[in-house]
Formats: sequence, C-alpha cells, structure tokens
Amino acid sequence: MNLMLLKNNMNKLYQITILLLLSLMFAACGVDDTTLKISKDKKAANALSLARQNGCLNCHSVGSSIIGPAWVLVSERYKSSPDAHQMLIEKVRNGGNGSWNDITGGALMPPQKRVSQEHISLIVEFILSLKHDSE
Ligand code: HEC
Repeated sequence: MNLMLLKNNMNKLYQITILLLLSLMFAACGVDDTTLKISKDKKAANALSLARQNGCLNCHSVGSSIIGPAWVLVSERYKSSPDAHQMLIEKVRNGGNGSWNDITGGALMPPQKRVSQEHISLIVEFILSLKHDSE
C-alpha cells in the first residue's frame, strides 16, 4: 500500500468515526426523532416545490379543493389502500375524471405526461403522507 492510499484510508476512517460519534450523540439526547422530522419536512418541502413547478398547484392545494380535490382528501380516501401509490402515479400521468365529481362537478384532470415519473412519484408519496386534521 503506498503512502497516498494509506492517507486516504485514514481520512475515511476519521470521517466514519466522526459520523459514528455524531449519531451516538444524537441518539443519546433524543435528537433522533427531531432529525427524522426535519428530513421528512425537507421531503415535503421538496415535493411541494415540485408540485408548484409542475403546475399542480394551479388546480390543487393541500387543504382545500380548488379545481381538483384537496390533497388531504385524496390521502384520506386512499391511505389504507396498498396500491394507491402506483394507481395515483398512473392517474396523474394519464389524467381523467369521474373520481371526485361531487367536488369537481366532473372536471377533467389533464394528462401530466411532461412531468417525470420520478417527480410524480415524489409528489404522490407526499400526498399520501398527509394527515387529516381529525387524526
Ligand atoms: C387543470 C387542473 C389540474 C392540474 C394542472 C392538476 N390536476 Fe390533479 N386533478 C384535477 C382534477 C379536476 C381532479 C379530479 C379528477 C377526477 O375526478 O377523477 C384531479 C385529481 C387528482 C388526484 C386524485 C386522483 C384520483 O383518482 O383520486 C391527484 C393525486 C392529483 N390530481 C394530483 C395532481 C398532480 C400531482 C398534479 C401535477 C403534476 C396535478 N394533479 C395537476 C385537476 C388538475
């Protein structure tokens, strides 16, 4: 092993040790939960900004129905259905109507084919993570 390699490995070891120590510290003072929450919020913020960039928020909002159903209602309806994630990805991609007539009066959601599968998936994951006020 040459000297450079040894140095690199030592650096890695050093980084790993620091990471380990930090996570131990976090676990010790119960920061774990908070850290999880923050990362979840970051995910939510990211999903919301994707929704904004892709025009979803022109017709939707989280808490109230505009042209499309409020996303908390969508979450409420499908949260216990195991294939909701995949089903909603398809629905968003292809658009359609008929599922929310009582709210939309039969309005059509246009297909969102320009939005990448990955982005749709992230937004749908966010929608399904929403909780109803009453919970
Ligand atoms: C032009 C308005 C409009 C835009 C833009 C729009 N939607 Fe919708 N959305 C609707 C309408 C109207 C419905 C109700 C469709 C129905 O009744 O089946 C709907 C329904 C939905 C549903 C529920 C589907 C179901 O079957 O229950 C989800 C989830 C959804 N939209 C997500 C999105 C996402 C994500 C985007 C952006 C990528 C988006 N929508 C963009 C109007 C829109």
